Amino acid sequence: MSSSSLYTRAKSLFPGGVNSPVRFYPPYPKFMSRGEGSKLIGEDGNEYIDYCLAFGPMILGHSRKEVVEAIREQAGKATSLGTPGRLEVELGERIRSAIPSMEMIRFTNSGTEATMHAIRLARFFTGRPLILKIEGGFHGSHDYALESVPYTGPIDPSQRTTIEVPYNDANALNAAFQKYGRNIAAFILEPVLGNVGVVAPQPGYLQEARKITEEYGSLLIFDEVITGFRSSYGAYQNIVEVKPDLTTLGKIVGGGLPVGVFGGREDIMENVSPSGKFYQQGTFSGNPLSMAGGIAALDVLKGLDYSLPTSFAKQIAEAARLAFFKAGVEVKVNVSGTMLTVFFNHNDVVDSKTASTSNSELFSKYFNGLLENGIFIAGSQMEASFLSFAHSKGDVGKTIEVIKSVAEKIGN
Ligand SMILES: Cc1ncc(COP(=O)(O)O)c(C=O)c1O
Repeated sequence: MSSSSLYTRAKSLFPGGVNSPVRFYPPYPKFMSRGEGSKLIGEDGNEYIDYCLAFGPMILGHSRKEVVEAIREQAGKATSLGTPGRLEVELGERIRSAIPSMEMIRFTNSGTEATMHAIRLARFFTGRPLILKIEGGFHGSHDYALESVPYTGPIDPSQRTTIEVPYNDANALNAAFQKYGRNIAAFILEPVLGNVGVVAPQPGYLQEARKITEEYGSLLIFDEVITGFRSSYGAYQNIVEVKPDLTTLGKIVGGGLPVGVFGGREDIMENVSPSGKFYQQGTFSGNPLSMAGGIAALDVLKGLDYSLPTSFAKQIAEAARLAFFKAGVEVKVNVSGTMLTVFFNHNDVVDSKTASTSNSELFSKYFNGLLENGIFIAGSQMEASFLSFAHSKGDVGKTIEVIKSVAEKIGN
């Protein structure tokens, strides 16, 4: 069945024809039917090298044997128990030993739930109303993270409000804390921005975030929904050696099934019901399928060397820089571990504001050029591309050739 006829049906069912807005790109998105290793196979039978990877989770590629077998085996035993189960303990222990700051955790079903409850918990624990976040930082679709105002505006601290500061700007961070510090329950941030495209922290920025939150008695929450297990076995906090009070995870830790996690300091997490008075629940939380998928994925990941997908990300980034330079098109390519974004921009992209000055028309030409030639990335300039352990040297070589020819076309 063609994507266009499926889209016609989908449009009458789902707003914009999709069940998550980031899946849409004009005129209508390709409907995919299968994933195999580094490839997606469309409803029309076409094959694409996949750098979207379901927006991050599929770090082992699609249909990784060990994960599929674990899910299949578990499906025959139970898909939901509504009772505690061994697999929750086993995945939880793996997470805690890989990310020691997560002394106690709770599973949810999505990253959105994880950040929502982490934010609620920070307000409960500190008794303070304000949440500070990063401009353009994304923590899922709930009001606590979507409704934010600039820290420079007038804010009534009696309102439970989310305020924001630009990323990578220690001065703005200090100014926001000077103004509102004693009312700030938590500062939540993705340690590497992934949702304006990839932007890595400048040296010292995350350390500054740790220092100032401690000074004002606010909690530091690292949203590692994307970065958890993405560029090393563990979280980005391990790489920079900054210990947040709370961490949120999702994506990779479910092995490709729905999952979320929030966790951190035991004295904070002990407040969560039923051990404390902070109420939080979920019918499907810790469901055995996601747990089985997560355990299998982490066990495979533990034995793998991240340097290969990391070097592939670097190779693609360098090739894109060179190809667009030769074609006379200005780009900035940001890479962090196994994540990258080609920004059509002459400015260095260091935060949301600089990312938003990118040329979306050129991006759209790039995206469509890749797609026509069998390469699939997320359909927005403000997204990351991801490498997986399933990508081969051959995939990367083909991708680089396609980028060269697309760059030439755009440059003409
Ligand atoms: C950093 C970050 N936090 C939270 C979320 C929300 O996770 P989910 O889509 O699983 O609700 C996302 C989703 O992309 C994310 O990138």
